[in-house]
Amino acid sequence: MNGLESEGPKLRRAVCPGSYDPVTNGHLDIIARASKLYDVVHVVVMINQSKKGLFTVEERLELLRQVTAEYGNVEVESFHGLLVDFCKERDIPAIVKGLRAVSDFDYELQMAQMNNGLSGVETLFVPTNPTYSFLSSSLVKEVAAWGGDVSHLVPPLVLEALNKRHRED
Ligand code: PNS
Repeated sequence: MNGLESEGPKLRRAVCPGSYDPVTNGHLDIIARASKLYDVVHVVVMINQSKKGLFTVEERLELLRQVTAEYGNVEVESFHGLLVDFCKERDIPAIVKGLRAVSDFDYELQMAQMNNGLSGVETLFVPTNPTYSFLSSSLVKEVAAWGGDVSHLVPPLVLEALNKRHRED
């Protein structure tokens, strides 16, 4: 047996990055689909200190851990820095992103090309389930803040967290 074989087969890894403030059913759909395509999916909350979230990074991580527990091959963590550095540190060659509509495409393409130019990491776009093509964390937060029904757009645990946060206001 040579040295390489003793390390076992290389796991195919991908990352699903985002702010996840909070995780929605749209995010979960992409994570679930990525988890079928890769051995390990790293769901990473990218920390952006200039953007104040509704939920703290720790709260977002906890919600993500609970709602992705059923997949078995999803690891949830946060990172402060460039996404390509997160990928380099963990030897991850692929970023998986959902594309909701043409309006997402311009910026996503720019980021994909920048990330590829910086480090060679590839971005794979997954077409969002049309049920969630209008869905974003920002809209969920706005509708929930005004008492609108978002129960069909987020997992029950997230709905509970949103309701609790708004009761605290
Ligand atoms: O959920 P979001 O806010 O649409 O996610 C955007 C995110 C966090 C994936 C993107 O802003 C990002 O990758 N930020 C990390 C910093 C970075 O690498 N910036 C250069 C992008 S080319």
